[in-house]
Amino acid sequence: MDHHQVFSLCSFPYLFKIKKHLYVSLFFLLTLLIFSSFIVDVLPFLRFGWLSSFSSSTPTKECDYSNGRWVRRTTSSSSVNGLLYGEECRFLDSGFRWRKNGRKDSGYLQWRWQPHGCDLPRFNASDFLERSRNGRIVFVGDSIGRNQWESLMCMLSQAIPNKSEIYEENGNPITKHKGFLSMRFPQQNLTVEYHRTPFLVVIGRPPDKSPKEIKTTVRVDEFNWQSKRWVGSDVLVFNTGHWWNEEKTVGCYFEEGRKVNKTMGVMEAFGKSLKTWKSWVLKRLDPHKSHVFFRSYSPVHYRNGTWNLGGLCDAEMEPETDKRRMEPDASHNEYIYKVIEEMRYRHSKVKFLNITYLTEFRKDGHPSRYREKGTPVDAPQDCSHWCLPGVPDTWNEILYAQLLSMNYRTK
Ligand SMILES: *[C@@H]1O[C@H](CO)[C@@H](O)[C@H](O)[C@H]1NC(C)=O
Ligand SMILES: *[C@@H]1O[C@H](CO)[C@@H](O)[C@H](O)[C@H]1NC(C)=O
Ligand SMILES: *[C@@H]1O[C@H](CO)[C@@H](O)[C@H](O)[C@H]1NC(C)=O
Ligand SMILES: *[C@@H]1O[C@H](CO)[C@@H](O)[C@H](O)[C@H]1NC(C)=O
Ligand SMILES: *[C@@H]1O[C@H](CO)[C@@H](O)[C@H](O)[C@H]1NC(C)=O
Ligand SMILES: *[C@@H]1O[C@H](CO)[C@@H](O)[C@H](O)[C@H]1NC(C)=O
Repeated sequence: MDHHQVFSLCSFPYLFKIKKHLYVSLFFLLTLLIFSSFIVDVLPFLRFGWLSSFSSSTPTKECDYSNGRWVRRTTSSSSVNGLLYGEECRFLDSGFRWRKNGRKDSGYLQWRWQPHGCDLPRFNASDFLERSRNGRIVFVGDSIGRNQWESLMCMLSQAIPNKSEIYEENGNPITKHKGFLSMRFPQQNLTVEYHRTPFLVVIGRPPDKSPKEIKTTVRVDEFNWQSKRWVGSDVLVFNTGHWWNEEKTVGCYFEEGRKVNKTMGVMEAFGKSLKTWKSWVLKRLDPHKSHVFFRSYSPVHYRNGTWNLGGLCDAEMEPETDKRRMEPDASHNEYIYKVIEEMRYRHSKVKFLNITYLTEFRKDGHPSRYREKGTPVDAPQDCSHWCLPGVPDTWNEILYAQLLSMNYRTK
């Protein structure tokens, strides 16, 4: 099932009629919807939970990479958390290429994340590849997950002298937004894959004899059918969240036990779906082999209005310095964290990849008005995805660091 179907099934049944030559506008609409998550996800929260935790960092044995600050890179540290690749990297979606799309300022590239009380290990692409020999690294989630996958593709490919050797197993181009892409590193016999599944669970037709107005349901107790492809992976990075809000699920009903439930709330359904995810992980993944991560929510940064009311981020040249302007932790994170805690004793290689706080500072890292060719001039700004190279590189450095701390090595 590709994302056009998911999208149209769920929110705009009339889009079924749209023909291929209108894909550009369809992408545009899709982008709108992705931005729309901001409204529901962020506005209800006026607490500043992070401010207190920021000042109370206590030294622990295992480093907490989630907490720290952005510092300007010095020349001597330029290869530590530095620019590991350039935007000519051929695995990048054109929407993530800032310079090509007209952005001139490059100040946002000079920051590196400095955790409190420890350092991030230097990212070593050859080492990561060697550790992953004969393996599979799989990203599962929405388009922000693709953002992170492309970042890792570029980071890893730096260790390959002839990058043309890396190929998509089914010959699909990255720019086609395919539901499933598998890039093979032949020397290492390794694939690095992306599977598009915004909800993780099944989106499908309602049971027979359901009321006419119900066209589509989100089946909170049935795990995505693509999941059989993820079994046997060595590293799995899940994410979801941007689609779990009132707007994205308009026209959708939640379904449980093959029964439509019209009163179930979005966050309740989100919690139930995470339980379904948990059962799948515990049942299908080998705790000796699979390293499982659930990446936390990636914040959006619309200023002076929401995504659809002229919200902007193109004037942002530096990370946020005023902590009062930062949003508190997204409520999705608490749900994810709780479920992972419940799994700890049965699958010790399941980790919460908490990048929300460090990302919340980076209002300067979005494509903003520098959109890919073909985007309508009056399109809203993209303050939700990330320019690459950019912030998701840090997420992947933390991913690498956490894998090292687990002594990750395939075979
Ligand atoms: C994520 O990390 C931030 C910064 O350390 C912390 O404030 C927040 O509570 C963490 N979120 C969860 C759900 O653990
Ligand atoms: C990176 O890893 C490779 C392979 O493990 C090793 O030979 C090399 O010394 C490492 N490079 C650095 C800079 O640590
Ligand atoms: C490549 O990896 C797969 C999966 O681990 C394995 O079955 C196969 O034997 C490997 N091929 C080579 C040539 O090592
Ligand atoms: C690089 O790899 C491609 C694809 O395998 C191959 O066609 C090409 O000859 C290689 N180039 C060099 C310089 O080895
Ligand atoms: C619908 O879901 C809500 C929330 O989980 C639950 O309280 C209610 O009993 C469910 N209704 C049916 C008919 O299952
Ligand atoms: C945002 O709104 C404020 C107050 O209306 C205005 O002063 C400021 O110039 C606006 N910023 C941008 C980037 O439009």
